[in-house]
Amino acid sequence: MSNMLFPRWMNALPTVAAIGAVGGLTTAALGTWYWATPEFWEVGYMPTQPGTGFNHQIHAGRLGMDCRYCHTNVEDSHWANIPTVNTCMGCHTEGKLAQQFDPGEKVAFVREAYAADQSIPWRRIHKLPDYVGNFPHHMHVDAGVSCYSCHGQIRGMPVVYQDQSLSMGWCLDCHRNVEDNIVGPSKVTDLVWVEEHLKERARGADNATPEAKRIIESLKSSVAEGGPQNCGACHQ
Ligand code: HEC
Ligand code: HEC
Ligand code: HEC
Ligand code: HEC
Ligand code: HEC
Repeated sequence: MSNMLFPRWMNALPTVAAIGAVGGLTTAALGTWYWATPEFWEVGYMPTQPGTGFNHQIHAGRLGMDCRYCHTNVEDSHWANIPTVNTCMGCHTEGKLAQQFDPGEKVAFVREAYAADQSIPWRRIHKLPDYVGNFPHHMHVDAGVSCYSCHGQIRGMPVVYQDQSLSMGWCLDCHRNVEDNIVGPSKVTDLVWVEEHLKERARGADNATPEAKRIIESLKSSVAEGGPQNCGACHQ
């Protein structure tokens, strides 16, 4: 019992230590405490990016580039990746784009970073606290949860901001209701379609594709109604 309430990762939490010192830490108290933590305090976080920034509305929206052209490991790795300058230079090497499409001065910071063999210091937007030791990013994408569900309508964002709270309640809400969120692996990056599709589903439409239906059924029976809810799954 005490092992369950005081697993090792909690040592990193000063607040937990403080409460633990005052007296018994009951699950009930813990419950009130975590449900009482603010749900939305980081929503909207939008740091200023280096240079002229990177515009998803232009690249992923207007030019229609797939997310995986740049975020190459979202299906394979525990952590998503930000592309290197090399990926940008595939198009932004001087003279590659036809004159009328070349953003010229606006990509000077990209060319300079490349020439100096440096990476662009993009500022991180989505970041879970270290004590959330296990968030297998790829497993979510592979189970057919769209980028849209966790990052919002990136295709319409000139500057990326945090769209969802990333709170514990938010994780658990989805794990308890996977049927509201699975669109299937073949659709995960089709964000415009996904937004419309999930809005219809929220209004009650039974619109899951056969691919999505199969996954929903298998998750419901295999992963305790669709996703882990035991503390150790996410805190390790
Ligand atoms: C041409 C390359 C490119 C494409 C295509 C692209 N991205 Fe990005 N993405 C970037 C770069 C560069 C950054 C870092 C700068 C920034 O945050 O704006 C980034 C940042 C992000 C972030 C924020 C990461 C953080 O710091 O938390 C998310 C989320 C994201 N992209 C999702 C997507 C999604 C979803 C798509 C497809 C709809 C997509 N991206 C398409 C290059 C790309
Ligand atoms: C597949 C080709 C391609 C790749 C890869 C690409 N871009 Fe672009 N980018 C374009 C095109 C085309 C435009 C001009 C779009 C327009 O204005 O019509 C552009 C425009 C831009 C602009 C100017 C935006 C503005 O406000 O007008 C910046 C800055 C930029 N890209 C940065 C990057 C960075 C950083 C990367 C790598 C993460 C990258 N691009 C990767 C094709 C690409
Ligand atoms: C189930 C929710 C979820 C889904 C689905 C999801 N992400 Fe994420 N993503 C996150 C969270 C949470 C983080 C922060 C992870 C951390 O701090 O360890 C993140 C981080 C990122 C980052 C930042 C990586 C870095 O090192 O700065 C990028 C880029 C990204 N996601 C892109 C995508 C793309 C593209 C898709 C769709 C193919 C996608 N994500 C699908 C929740 C999700
Ligand atoms: C929009 C839906 C959604 C959100 C939000 C979400 N998850 Fe999940 N998560 C899933 C689904 C679906 C699975 C089942 C994947 C599988 O088993 O293939 C899963 C599985 C997992 C697993 C278990 C993987 C395994 O080994 O079986 C962990 C750990 C996890 N999620 C952590 C998190 C954390 C931490 C957050 C919040 C930061 C989060 N998830 C947010 C849908 C979601
Ligand atoms: C699905 C993943 C997931 C599961 C399961 C989970 N947590 Fe969390 N937990 C999180 C995330 C994500 C955060 C960070 C929330 C934030 O940054 O606001 C968090 C935060 C916390 C915090 C810190 C709260 C704060 O305000 O700083 C405590 C304590 C905690 N969890 C305890 C637990 C306990 C006890 C359990 C089991 C009953 C549990 N968690 C199960 C994902 C999870």
